[in-house]
Amino acid sequence: MTALLELEILTYFCTQAPCHKQKLTHPEHCIFKHFGYVQFQTKDSAYDTLKRVETLTLTKPDDMHLHLREGDVMRDVLADSTRQFARVIVMPNLKSPVVSTEQALDYRRSIIESLSEDIQARGEFNPLMTLYLTEKMTVDEITKASQSAYVHAVKYYPAGATTNSDSGVTAIDKVYPVLEAMAEQNLPLLMHGEVTDTDVDVFDREAIFIEKILSPLMENIPDLRIVFEHITTKDAVDYVREGSDRLAATITPQHLLLNRNALFVGGIRPHHYCLPVLKAEEHRRAVVDAATSGSPKFFLGTDSAPHSREAKESACGCAGVYSAHNAIELYAEVFEKTACLHKLEAFASHYGADFYGLPRNKGTITLEKNQWQIPDYLPFGESKIIPFRAGEPCHWKMKQ
Ligand code: NCD
Ligand code: ZN
Repeated sequence: MTALLELEILTYFCTQAPCHKQKLTHPEHCIFKHFGYVQFQTKDSAYDTLKRVETLTLTKPDDMHLHLREGDVMRDVLADSTRQFARVIVMPNLKSPVVSTEQALDYRRSIIESLSEDIQARGEFNPLMTLYLTEKMTVDEITKASQSAYVHAVKYYPAGATTNSDSGVTAIDKVYPVLEAMAEQNLPLLMHGEVTDTDVDVFDREAIFIEKILSPLMENIPDLRIVFEHITTKDAVDYVREGSDRLAATITPQHLLLNRNALFVGGIRPHHYCLPVLKAEEHRRAVVDAATSGSPKFFLGTDSAPHSREAKESACGCAGVYSAHNAIELYAEVFEKTACLHKLEAFASHYGADFYGLPRNKGTITLEKNQWQIPDYLPFGESKIIPFRAGEPCHWKMKQ
């Protein structure tokens, strides 16, 4: 397998008629949408098919965007993430947001206490904490955070953009002094990249964010390192790809696998509703191209965001897709479909750590081509949670 991963791939082509051996312009499929028939040609001229990859061993991955919540549900969701990931960037949007290093350390302690005894004893899981940026944040608090070994970033939510974002920022210039201090102290800013103006169409929120918020910010504070979280559009892909090296982006499984049609298949589908909302097919394809491009600017962040079944299946359902249950297997499916399995390890296990200035993990995980069925529901404290793709087949399985 290692040999296959190291091959330098020159051309992808489809093996089906009538496009036999014609070079593909899109690595996922040919113009006739023959998914799963992509082969590749290497420098050494051998034709090969990625379909024959049956097992794949990767450096243990990191999830660079995760919601763990708090209280009794945390134990349930942690079991899913700890199985696959060595480290996770923990989002601070609790009901009472995590706004200080002291609170981040308390939250971290409660996460560690909720780990299974096994994992606690082996010290195998490291939650990387973040602070929630409010307009009351002080430069002193930033100094404390950057001196702490446990706080790795500060998260920007526009006020009213998503779950528990009421304490978010109403106008970015109000927090510029704090952002300048972050740039000086090399503490990255993680951005929920949407504007919330009521006159902006919900599908255009990300593109307008680039123009109105991100682009001026990149210019005004040139040393600030930024992660554009959960990107969903071609606009975001192009902006990050062409931008400076201090800008990177995370990509979720749902934005790789689904377009906005998935919200309305035979009725309204609350379990596909997340923010930023799913986009049109051309945007999904651009996001797939970014993830599988091999560029270190794009890395794994699931944005797995659990809400109970009742909170989702409601007249005003909460935003969030729960993908933590089998996230790495979902990403493997995307990379396999695009004949890019050899690039999964860097996307999942290298580029995120590199951006955050962390050492790459030492352990490994192994994935096997093995079909299984995703459960209809999972425990979530007293309630239940419906995982992404509940009841549907999953094509890869992580070896325990
Ligand atoms: C997240 C949540 O529920 O905390 N929801 C979501 O749809 N992604 C918040 C967020 O990251 O926007
Ligand atoms: Zn999130």
